[in-house]
Amino acid sequence: MTDRLVIRRPDDWHVHLRDGAMLEAVAPHTARQFARAIVMPNLVPPVTTVAAANAYAGRIRKAAGPGFEPLMTCYLTDGISPDEIERGYAEAAWVAAKLYPAHATTNSAHGVTAVAKIAPALERMQKIGMKLLVHGEVTDKAVDIFDREAVFIERVLAPLLRDFPGLKTVFEHITTKDAADFVTAGPATLAATITPHHLAIDRNAIFEGGIRPHLYCLPIAKRAIHRTALRKAAVSGSRKFFLGTDTAPHAVQTKEAACGCAGIFNAPVALESYLRVFDEEGALDRFEAFASENGPDFYGLPRNEGRIALARAKATAPERVKATPGDVVCYLGGQDLGWRYEGAVA
Ligand code: NCD
Ligand code: ZN
Repeated sequence: MTDRLVIRRPDDWHVHLRDGAMLEAVAPHTARQFARAIVMPNLVPPVTTVAAANAYAGRIRKAAGPGFEPLMTCYLTDGISPDEIERGYAEAAWVAAKLYPAHATTNSAHGVTAVAKIAPALERMQKIGMKLLVHGEVTDKAVDIFDREAVFIERVLAPLLRDFPGLKTVFEHITTKDAADFVTAGPATLAATITPHHLAIDRNAIFEGGIRPHLYCLPIAKRAIHRTALRKAAVSGSRKFFLGTDTAPHAVQTKEAACGCAGIFNAPVALESYLRVFDEEGALDRFEAFASENGPDFYGLPRNEGRIALARAKATAPERVKATPGDVVCYLGGQDLGWRYEGAVA
């Protein structure tokens, strides 16, 4: 039995770091485990300009401390200027742009109402090699919440890939067998991130003995067959799947509310929570590629140089992280993780 794993230093390809006091509270947790992270732009107001991305990157560096590199993203809005997008890419202000269907999730009110509205931007991104990141859910209220990802593939993603065959696209935080199958069978330009929680829970967990707001996120966890398919994809050895935690902090009072926010905060236990799954699947040998190789390879960025270690040990996850305007409840808080993150090794 493998009791200690030493791997190339990993990156997180999907995080929400927020801003202000919340940024200061959460950023060190991501920086503790990851060398780089793709930072989502869904602030209020969203990050839509080069100036805003540069300023935000500066605040992140300050909050995270040395040795952490934020990889910024641009929030796509209807009619966004292709020139601004290209300028930010050329100046390395951002590495990708994020498509949020309008009103699909937290802070997405300024999102895209129809792909046609961002066609000039996508054309330009395809031309310059800039990546498109997609929140894959339709917002049509007539579509059942558990079907919104599968319907998105058919109505939006498949046509988009047909129209922009050279555009490198990441289907973010996939939650269904439909998505895992679609990505597996799709072109080499298509990849996906998978969160630790979607590998571990199914929709029953959200309602176990009562309503569990801290397991509510978007896209919402689906049936067990979908979790099984995601686990299979993650450990398959396919280079198209990689680590993206979608860690999404919300102050406790905004989660435990009559209308609670979507988002699971997993940054303090990110690597341990993934590793548990790979261990259960008998696939510890596949973890390094998923965590540290497939992401940079897809993005065309160098792999990290350093190494980190994780050891099989009793390790209790923190219940909460202190923050303003309220503490953030941690995924798996109080549970034994079975693995301990030991940090950098020579
Ligand atoms: C994210 C957030 O809180 O910003 N919430 C979530 O449930 N994942 C937004 C998102 O990624 O959908
Ligand atoms: Zn997200």
